[in-house]
Amino acid sequence: MALVKKEKYEICALVVHKSYRRKGIGKRLLMHTIQKLKELNPKEIFLSVSQYNIPALILYLKNGFVIVDFKKKVFDGLDRVYMREEDNLLF
Ligand SMILES: CC(C)(COP(=O)(O)OP(=O)(O)OC[C@H]1O[C@@H](n2cnc3c(N)ncnc32)[C@H](O)[C@@H]1OP(=O)(O)O)[C@@H](O)C(=O)NCCC(=O)NCCS
Repeated sequence: MALVKKEKYEICALVVHKSYRRKGIGKRLLMHTIQKLKELNPKEIFLSVSQYNIPALILYLKNGFVIVDFKKKVFDGLDRVYMREEDNLLF
């Protein structure tokens, strides 16, 4: 799912059922979403993730995202790492 904020697209709610993890599905979903968003000429594709969510952090770091910010106690009361997709890292 992606939310739009002034031509900035936020990827959120990327979830794979527990029974199907580590099979490449999360990566494929992420890549597909990015590919679709790129067709809209976005200024930015970004997301936020808990600093403790190691699987998601690794997934994003290995697939073109860089850490750009860190905010304490966001909407869910937890600290969040903000990441942005970098074109030249993706392909
Ligand atoms: C994050 C999530 C979507 C990953 O989905 P997945 O289908 O298991 O991911 P993939 O199999 O495509 O993994 C791609 C790469 O991410 C990394 N990765 C994924 N899970 C990992 C784990 N548990 N530990 C370490 N690295 C992990 C690996 O580098 C992996 O590549 P590899 O298997 O070749 O080593 C899944 O763990 C999930 O649904 N988590 C709960 C919801 C969530 O936290 N979503 C993110 C919110 S921001």
